[in-house]
Amino acid sequence: MKTALVGLVALIVALTAVFWPQPAEAHALLARADPPINASLRESPTRITLFMTEQLQRTHSSVKVLDSAGQRRDIGETEFSDEVPTQMGVRVLKLDPGVYTVVWETLSEVDGHTWTGSYVFSVLNPDGSAPAGSGVEVDLNRPGPPVAVDSAVKAVGLGALILFVGAVFISALLRPSPLPRLLPLIAVAVIVGIAATAYEAIAGALRLGDIGFLDDVLFDSRNGFWLQQRWYALIVAAIALTFSLRSPSLRREDASSSPSPSLQGEDASSSLSPPLWGGDAAGRGGARALLATLAVVAVVWLASASAISHGAAIGSGWIWGTLFDALHLSAAALWIGGLVSLVIAIRGNAESRIESVRRFSAVAAASVPVLVAAGLLSALIQIPNVNGIVDTGWGAAFLIKIAILLALFSAAGVNAFFLRPRDESADGQDSALAKRFGRMMRLEALLGLSVIAVSAVLTQLPSPASAQPEIEQKDNTIVETFSRGEIIASLEFSPNLVGFNTWTATITGAQDNPVEALLLRFRYADRSVGPVTVPATRMSEGRFQLEGAYFGLPGTWTVEMELRRATGDDLVVAVQSDVESGFQSSPFAADSGGALGLPLTQMDWNGVGALWAFVLGGLAWINRPRIRRFWGPRGGDAAFASGLLGLIVAVVLLTGLHVEPGRTLANPVERTAESVEQGAALFAANCASCHGETGAGDGPLADSLPAPPANFTVHVPFHPDGVLFAWITDGIRGTGMPAWSPQLSDQERWDLVNFLRANFDVTAAQ
Ligand code: HEC
Repeated sequence: MKTALVGLVALIVALTAVFWPQPAEAHALLARADPPINASLRESPTRITLFMTEQLQRTHSSVKVLDSAGQRRDIGETEFSDEVPTQMGVRVLKLDPGVYTVVWETLSEVDGHTWTGSYVFSVLNPDGSAPAGSGVEVDLNRPGPPVAVDSAVKAVGLGALILFVGAVFISALLRPSPLPRLLPLIAVAVIVGIAATAYEAIAGALRLGDIGFLDDVLFDSRNGFWLQQRWYALIVAAIALTFSLRSPSLRREDASSSPSPSLQGEDASSSLSPPLWGGDAAGRGGARALLATLAVVAVVWLASASAISHGAAIGSGWIWGTLFDALHLSAAALWIGGLVSLVIAIRGNAESRIESVRRFSAVAAASVPVLVAAGLLSALIQIPNVNGIVDTGWGAAFLIKIAILLALFSAAGVNAFFLRPRDESADGQDSALAKRFGRMMRLEALLGLSVIAVSAVLTQLPSPASAQPEIEQKDNTIVETFSRGEIIASLEFSPNLVGFNTWTATITGAQDNPVEALLLRFRYADRSVGPVTVPATRMSEGRFQLEGAYFGLPGTWTVEMELRRATGDDLVVAVQSDVESGFQSSPFAADSGGALGLPLTQMDWNGVGALWAFVLGGLAWINRPRIRRFWGPRGGDAAFASGLLGLIVAVVLLTGLHVEPGRTLANPVERTAESVEQGAALFAANCASCHGETGAGDGPLADSLPAPPANFTVHVPFHPDGVLFAWITDGIRGTGMPAWSPQLSDQERWDLVNFLRANFDVTAAQ
């Protein structure tokens, strides 16, 4: 039965890991931009739009656009989108040719951290050449306390939370209650908690500028809201503690340090236990009220810590992220915090040791799988791949955490499977053994606290999953030069990767017989695909350019450049290129699928929820007989109901609540003739190679794809604009359909949608 349970838990963890949806993002960093980072534009954009990795706190997020002289060229007000809470943008004045620097600043809704960054783009000269000037240097240093101090305070605050929850839990668990003994620990935890919370709020204000921003932090951000709740709860705890410290029943207990020998549950212990729990009814009632108050505070404190954790930052799946974080934190508090209190509670208490340790062990044993499962999940979503561990500071801290965790598990294993059984069978009489056991328990507690300290550092570092994706963009640009007689021609392929490319031809020495047109012909050498012939655009005398996704597959491509000259005497030269996969961006890119990202289809958040509901419900169902034996008929009924409920929840989540990406996205671009025409041109340049000129799915590259593209005439009528847009934006996993979001702007992708609707949907209103 135990093995079956462990197996099942392992199965859920493995399944969830495999199907895990999007990775969590830790801070509001730049994911991509429109126009893209480093873009070279022919015309001035009207607006700069940034897509960040996390929901933005509008009051303190902004975008500025500076020209080479450092002058602002934006209109001012940063604009936000109600539909896409991670998006912000700013409108710009008409930009002359030149290099522009975009500077952004964000305040994360979740953790209250501020981040800044900058990137450049340029507007080309009218002849298509690169403009003069360069980006401006921007001071990205933030005011506010150093990160190390922040991490230290976070670690201390987290430690206080865990010790507090553990002490309250042990006070409720053990008989007689060790609450009086644990009061000093609880009081210290409360004071530290109050101070750390205050520090977090003040540091947040300083990061924004000065202390004057305190009310912005407290009243204008989600982070601040939860800091406040925590603070109020802790102050209530402090007041309750102050009152009870003056209560005579507590002081009487302190004086009578003789412990109770009785372990036989409440009735027996009440007569012998310290006055706090026995004694007069008034004293007992007061102590219970204190414990209940502290328990409520513990719940609020745990909730506030989870609500502003990084798990809570995952866009659509924040409920699950928060839930996993809450589970993780609670399990850590019960085990590690509980252990510290247990060590204090049983010191010099040989009689109650065995029973106390037995009670605690049951809970610790249950906490460990929860802790590991939830921790593993959050690690998986934060580490997209192995590079994420070896290349980053976050990864180093993570490895340290794993090392201490292994030591912790070893110590816990020795205690649970070796020392505790021996102590029990010696009935606590072997004092040498008891001493060793005590030492090992203290070691276990110490290792646990170290893990917590490292974890606090981890939460302060940006995780690899949130590293800025576009900074590491690959570039395999090549330039080939030929000479034929007096003509020198060069052809540049950029970035020379599968997907969108720019081919630029420069021809000199052809003054006598100028090149009037230039065609590029693409042949895929490894298979019988193509050829596709496309005219390049003339940018200036002797300079031609073509943009498009004519490299549809990785492999060797031959590009023939055909120069058409005024008086005949055309020239053809050919270049070969080994084109690598262009589905790149950063090694830590958000969509790289997690450490265990398999090429399987992804499950969405509802799917993950359904899986858990189904398996947990199933566990309750399978174990009905055991639960009935243990808890009686009521328990059996409850197990039956849980099983049924799990099944219903799973079915509802899978069928009822599933939302197709883009389903709710409205088309902001009107389907005008102009937009459709734009779309048609983009389609011819980028899509026809696979989808075919007529959208039938018979383009030259179609045969070489794992599965040919669908016939648009059949499919488009069934999908709303938003869904088509989402597919074009993000591609379709597991098919050859690439993502177009960095290459084509939002506007261009909506133009494509309008084109698809106008051409392939007979049901669409004209
Ligand atoms: C490298 C080949 C390739 C290129 C280039 C390409 N597609 Fe696709 N596209 C595919 C494949 C393969 C599918 C998957 C077909 C399926 O799911 O039935 C697909 C599916 C789609 C779908 C969903 C069709 C449906 O209803 O199932 C849309 C919409 C789409 N592509 C639009 C575009 C647009 C717009 C472009 C140009 C910007 C483009 N594609 C470029 C290969 C490509």
